[in-house]
Amino acid sequence: AKQPVRVLVTGAAGQIGYALVPMIARGVMLGPDQPVILHMLDIPPAAEALNGVKMELIDAAFPLLKGVVATTDVVEACTGVGVAVMVGGFPRKEGMERKDVMTKNVSIYKSQASALEKHAAANCKVLVVANPANTNALILKEFAPSIPEKNISCLTRLDHNRALGQISERLKVQVCDVKNAIIWGNHSSSQYPDVNHATVNTPSGEKPVRELVKDDAWLNGEFISTVQQRGAAIIKARKLSSALSAASAACDHIRDWVLGTPEGTWVSMGVYSDGSYNVPAGLIYSFPVTCRNGEWTIVQGLPIDEFSRKKMDATAEELSEEKALAYSCLS
Ligand code: NAI
Repeated sequence: AKQPVRVLVTGAAGQIGYALVPMIARGVMLGPDQPVILHMLDIPPAAEALNGVKMELIDAAFPLLKGVVATTDVVEACTGVGVAVMVGGFPRKEGMERKDVMTKNVSIYKSQASALEKHAAANCKVLVVANPANTNALILKEFAPSIPEKNISCLTRLDHNRALGQISERLKVQVCDVKNAIIWGNHSSSQYPDVNHATVNTPSGEKPVRELVKDDAWLNGEFISTVQQRGAAIIKARKLSSALSAASAACDHIRDWVLGTPEGTWVSMGVYSDGSYNVPAGLIYSFPVTCRNGEWTIVQGLPIDEFSRKKMDATAEELSEEKALAYSCLS
């Protein structure tokens, strides 16, 4: 039998946490034959609610779930974890300056970086979900220098899945037949959802999305803004964030990273830029990646047209500014 993997979820008493922990305990993240021990971290005001989630996990009697640690102690939370999903953070409240929110999150991610570096299992894979996701991941990387940068990522899979969903709705095809969309850049409204290389599996073979949609104005306009604004649209409708789809995307992200992407398919992950596609090195930027043997590789050599180039540069520019703001909050 396989040894259980310890999986950390921070912010586990929140919306996404509540949707995510049962998925992990059911094997959606690491597979149906991989036992898990859940480590759930939240802050003292949420301790009672966190304990309630623990009670429900016990009551759900998940066969794969071999233990639950519910704690407000970051060291206990990080000890021995092989996967860390960082959902906890400080939300932007009405009337708050960007700099104030950034200051709070920089300090959270700085201290959690140190705890992970000291106490997590060797080769721990880290996924940052909490916003600003790319920059929180960058801070985590900077303050956990002994964790290899290839082990630190942020979530743009939700945006990627939203792009697939919009194409499937538009063409009235199954979402599982659409693949190879790309989210470039920041998990924010400056992201660039790109379908120039996306395809649909049809009865007469694989066809480019551009050829099937036949409406470049829609693809270059409304499609992009719908994906960029989808989070806000869900909040407007639900009065709460997109917790179900974010949790599902977090599982997709880790599952593909650990177990590999299917042949001929790529996914989007926010990873540390090595300068590929002339994206400035030293940013956490969302790229198309394939995964094998537990490691991601940026898909190389895709042709980039002028329209795409501008949008890829604009979102990189925003990330550079966020990085500068984050650094200014450190001192
Ligand atoms: P929420 O407010 O319901 O939950 C956040 C939880 O984090 C709360 O329980 C809070 O007590 C906890 N928390 C705060 N500071 C913490 C700390 N220092 N350590 C541990 N826990 C801490 O928010 P929700 O809806 O679950 O969203 C969580 C985050 O995910 C937000 O930042 C949101 O913007 C982001 N998000 C990211 C998405 C993505 O695709 N990357 C998609 C949707 C949301």
